[in-house]
Amino acid sequence: MSGHKIALLPGDGIGSEVIDASLQVLDKAAQRFGFTLNYTRFDWSCDTYLRTGRMMPEDGIEQLRKSNSILLGAVGWPQKVPDAVSLHGLLLPIRKAFDLYVNARPHKLLAGVTGPLRAEAFDILCIRENTEGEYSGAGGRVHVGTPEEVAVETSVFTRRGVERILRYGFEQARKRSRRLASVTKSNAQKHSMVFWDEVTEQVARDYPDVSVTRYHIDAIAARFVMQPETLDVVVASNLFGDILTDIGAAIQGGLGFAASANVNPNGGVPSMFEPVHGSAPDIAGRGIANPLATIWSAALMLDHLGESAGAAAILEAMSRVTAKGNVKTPDQGGRATTSEVAAAVAAELS
Ligand code: NAI
Ligand code: MG
Repeated sequence: MSGHKIALLPGDGIGSEVIDASLQVLDKAAQRFGFTLNYTRFDWSCDTYLRTGRMMPEDGIEQLRKSNSILLGAVGWPQKVPDAVSLHGLLLPIRKAFDLYVNARPHKLLAGVTGPLRAEAFDILCIRENTEGEYSGAGGRVHVGTPEEVAVETSVFTRRGVERILRYGFEQARKRSRRLASVTKSNAQKHSMVFWDEVTEQVARDYPDVSVTRYHIDAIAARFVMQPETLDVVVASNLFGDILTDIGAAIQGGLGFAASANVNPNGGVPSMFEPVHGSAPDIAGRGIANPLATIWSAALMLDHLGESAGAAAILEAMSRVTAKGNVKTPDQGGRATTSEVAAAVAAELS
């Protein structure tokens, strides 16, 4: 029997509610598919910061390194700790320490869920570069506060960075429909994005079985809405991927469904799985948060750990629950609790 060590980081607000809910489902999947999950729970949060002056202990990264994967709820409680502090104290150091350069987000309309579009089917895997590009942080300001003030923010694209994210995209395309969309703005950004196009062409030679289409960011944003069925795997830079995944999340029915994986495909370090939503202070503590985004993230985690049958079964179980439509949290117009939705998904697994 295979065993996996999972670090749980519930974080703040609804984080612990959605993590607890996902454990009901994970345990059921483990039981049914014959693997074990050993959890270590790290209650690092904004409260930890108020108590100790740090979001996580000094050796936090080393503690996490012992696990095979990290499942995270949400981090942040702006009334207690400024977001910039909590984000830079916990989430970003983890992504950086383990070089989690892939941010993968499946955008799929589950059965019975009505998104804002008339689209019958919507199923796109967005792959966002997670470490460089427009969010590299390179830049500065001079003459601050004067009429001559200048602000410069430099995008950084490296061959290593662009090539590895594209390669991951091609690998995913091979597992899906063998269609890959590469997103740039190479008509306007003639250095970095032309470079991205060139690397796309070079990497594509290693994947002759995958067909590649290049889109400009503005055109593909429209295509997400108008012709989503023409897209399957979409690879984009940090900024473009950030924007596209919000569109994708909206079309799939909102934050209650949007799941994400922060992955280092080379292995040897834990990858991190988390819902896209935050700690939702407005509903925290009431047991009404939609757990599906976290359950979906947990399924992505299982898939990454090699438990693909368990992962697929969880997705199917979620779809059966949404298709029936009688157990829904208030954000979906229902009256069920977080735990009731998780229990319904777990029940579909047996
Ligand atoms: P949010 O995602 O926490 O909430 C936005 C709105 O969506 C709220 O009305 C909330 O009730 C609702 N919502 C979110 N998740 C839901 C769920 N599972 N079920 C039902 N309704 C849900 O974003 P907000 O309010 O901007 O941020 C709150 C805190 O979370 C901040 O500290 C922010 O920095 C942090 N945050 C953390 C993220 C992370 O850990 N990756 C991501 C986004 C925000
Ligand atoms: Mg975003």
